[in-house]
Amino acid sequence: MTHNDQKLKPPPFKIKVVEPIKKTTRKERKKLLEEAGYNFFNIAAENIYIDLLTDSGTSAMSDYQWAGLMLGDESYAQCKNFFHLENVIQDITGYKYVVPTHQGRSAENLICHALNLDQSKVTVSNQFFDTTRANIKISGARAYDFVIAEAYKPSLLHDFKGNLDTNALEDFIQNKGDVSLIVVTVTNNAGGGQPVSLANIIEVSKIAKKYKIPFFLDAARFAENAYFIKLREKKYQNLSPKEIAQKMFSYADGCMMSAKKDGLVNIGGFIALNDEQIYRRIKERMTVIEGFPTYGGLAGRDLEAIARGLTEVLEEDYLEYRHQQLEYLGKGLEKAGIPFIKPVGGHSINLDVKRFLPHIPQSEFPAWALTVALYEYHGIRAAELGSVAFSRQQEDGKWIFPELEQVRLAIPRRVYSQEHLDYVIDSVIDLYEHKEEITGMKIIYDPGILRHFNAKLCPLD
Ligand SMILES: Cc1ncc(COP(=O)(O)O)c(C=O)c1O
Repeated sequence: MTHNDQKLKPPPFKIKVVEPIKKTTRKERKKLLEEAGYNFFNIAAENIYIDLLTDSGTSAMSDYQWAGLMLGDESYAQCKNFFHLENVIQDITGYKYVVPTHQGRSAENLICHALNLDQSKVTVSNQFFDTTRANIKISGARAYDFVIAEAYKPSLLHDFKGNLDTNALEDFIQNKGDVSLIVVTVTNNAGGGQPVSLANIIEVSKIAKKYKIPFFLDAARFAENAYFIKLREKKYQNLSPKEIAQKMFSYADGCMMSAKKDGLVNIGGFIALNDEQIYRRIKERMTVIEGFPTYGGLAGRDLEAIARGLTEVLEEDYLEYRHQQLEYLGKGLEKAGIPFIKPVGGHSINLDVKRFLPHIPQSEFPAWALTVALYEYHGIRAAELGSVAFSRQQEDGKWIFPELEQVRLAIPRRVYSQEHLDYVIDSVIDLYEHKEEITGMKIIYDPGILRHFNAKLCPLD
């Protein structure tokens, strides 16, 4: 059985290598959950049937990428793969300087350092991803989100829910003073992979220029964002995804990217920018913590795979297929009345848990409880983006809970078939039909920063 009347076009690739996946019993999964402190980061991946924890580093590489690994030049400095990568990135972004990093968060760390962020500094974004926020936090600076209000209305349809509220941004700059960095995250992961329009990027760029604030794109999913612009911003419908991406980058001063998403690789990242001084500071620091600036904590072969992945990710057939998969999953859930953040995002469907489990208050971590049920009953691993990840305690001891309580079903690139998606749809529907049986959780170990990676929980009695 398929889940909607609209047929999926066949993927623009065929399968050459397969990786077996194993189904466990509910009894086994209950035990595994207990042993893992109900934290999926502690469960051995081989015990997961369908893994939707993240789209990060989970892509299937193409034969062209795998072939590229054999061309890895493992010289310590100035390896030939760096020059290939540099060329590809310069072509897509238009930026002069390219610095590979081992993943996105080290790029964030290097940028924070190069911009001298400290306690006196303020940074703003449409919505910072959690590692970016954490890097800013440990630098001492403050991080504020200015995503448009529509982003917090889960059922509201809006073409570009990732947009930054430029009026609020300008107000903030005028009233609160110095801002040291503006980051626009494309697409907005924390908001469900919602895209940012080119019109919005242009507006932000004008404000950044007016107040002389460095403006960077967090470009982890730049190609998916470019495809949304093609579909939804009429003015750009006749441009290729690559031409749109080039425009996106042309309005910012630089970018940092986790290549583990739209780089179609399992590890890697980079910074690209035009400012020579910032570039120098990045190079100095990275030689100490990340490696020589032409390899950035990666092997030459990894650089080659990223260069090839960045080229493939902008192919229109690929982006159409990717978009279609997400739409298919969304339509299947929608038909059954499952509440999720609308419209469907670029890399994930984010279940709206306040409406999915209205009987569990946020203080009892309903989104976490839903991820536990998804695994216990159906062997699916998903990510909590709710009270465990984002609640915080004020100085007076009061807990502040996030506006949205979400479970993210992130779809790895080129990994799962329509049959897998049908299984996911059936599983979510099954839980929705039995939702009253799902109970709340409590935290028994709280590590503080980036709590969801290391926390331990247990079900409430
Ligand atoms: C938007 C965004 N920025 C940055 C990162 C951090 O990248 P990495 O996991 O490669 O450190 C992520 C990871 O999920 C992300 O989604």
